This record gives sequence, C-alpha cells and structure tokens, in this order.
Amino acid sequence: MENTDTQQMWEERYAESERIWSGRPNARLVEVVSTLPPGAALELGCGEGGDTVWLAQRGWRVLAVDIANNALQRAAAALEAAGGDLAERVEFQRHDLTVTFPCGRFDLVTAHFLHSPTEWDRDAVMRRAAAAVAPGGRLLIVDHAEAPPWAEHIHDHVFATAEEVVAGMDLDPAEWERERVERAGREGLGPDGQLGTLVDNVILLRRR
Ligand SMILES: C[S@@+](CC[C@H](N)C(=O)[O-])C[C@H]1O[C@@H](n2cnc3c(N)ncnc32)[C@H](O)[C@@H]1O
Repeated sequence: MENTDTQQMWEERYAESERIWSGRPNARLVEVVSTLPPGAALELGCGEGGDTVWLAQRGWRVLAVDIANNALQRAAAALEAAGGDLAERVEFQRHDLTVTFPCGRFDLVTAHFLHSPTEWDRDAVMRRAAAAVAPGGRLLIVDHAEAPPWAEHIHDHVFATAEEVVAGMDLDPAEWERERVERAGREGLGPDGQLGTLVDNVILLRRR
C-alpha cells in the first residue's frame, strides 16, 4: 500500500516555499551525461525539474517521476518556461517508488539525491532502477556522501558509502561494468550564497 505519510511529508516540504532547489541541472549529471548520445531516460525523484529540463534540451526523451504532485507541477512549469518543443519529449508520472515503478527499459536511469527522511527500502528501489536499464545503457546514482558544511541538523547522520549503495543492489558483476564508484568533492554554494565543498557519492554503472 502507498505510504501517504511520505507523500504528505514531501508535499508539505515543497509547499514551504516557492522554490527549494536551484533550478539548475545537477553538476554530476552535466559532468557524466554531456558526452552521452541522447536516448530514453528515466529520472527518479525529479523534484522541481532542473535535470529534466536539461536532459530534454540535450535531446533526451525523459520519463520524470516523483512522489509529490507539488514537485511534478513545478517541474512541468519549469519545462514550459524553458520553451520550444521540450514538453513533447517529457512525460511526468507520480509514483511512490517503494510501491509502484514506471514500466520500460531506458538508456539512462538517473537518481540524484533520492534521499528521504522517512523509513524506506531504498536498496529495493535502486534494484528496480538497475532492472530498468536497457542493455548498453547506464545507471547514474548521485548521493550525498556527507552533510553540506552549512547543514545545521544532520551532522550526526551516517551516510552510505558508494560501495554500500552498489552492494545493496546485489548486481551480477558479469552483467555490469563499474565506470565510476567513488566519493568526489566539488565546490558548491549554500542557501545564503556561501562557498563550500560538497561531497557526493557518484555511481555510474553500464549494463553490458
Ligand atoms: C532531495 S530531493 C532531490 C530532487 C532532485 N532530484 C534534485 O536533485 O534536485 C528528493 C526527491 O525525491 C522524491 N522522493 C522521495 N521519496 C520518494 C519516493 N518514495 N518515490 C518517489 N519520489 C520520492 C521527493 O519528493 C523529492 O522531490
């Protein structure tokens, strides 16, 4: 059964302000996907659509999924604001990924910061994400490896390592090539414009 508490939590999180995320595509997405030929992409936890818009602008057909209607509406508005015929290349679907998962096989399955403060079996969701990758396609997972320097409340949180995320998916090594499984820092801006180092787990796997 769908966990309406989780949906409600995210709906309320989005309702707190007009915009939560930067609206820009995630740095790791740009870093990894800029060199890939466009195809069919599945985006898990699309939030306000910064990555969705960028992928569509690069020629990808995108199925963008989130648990929160508020997020999906903002992502659709961002797509419309970006103009052109981008909307023709994007479909939005609402799923609680712990309960239902989009159908199909994709050249790219991407999940950026698909974290949630609620209790959930994220490994199971990531296993389904891997299963949705077409032969020759890629799975890109980008997680926080540690709290941002400006975070006030979550410094005692234990973050999974990139290796733990990969182990949780229990993939057949004969079927998957590890292109990147690492912890990587980058410069980023905090909510008040402060500069700091953000540390990500970057997991890029290619299905043979
Ligand atoms: C930290 S935000 C990241 C949003 C976006 N990927 C980005 O990088 O800006 C996590 C997103 O995952 C979504 N989410 C959390 N749990 C989910 C679930 N069980 N099913 C689908 N989406 C979920 C949230 O609604 C939220 O939009």
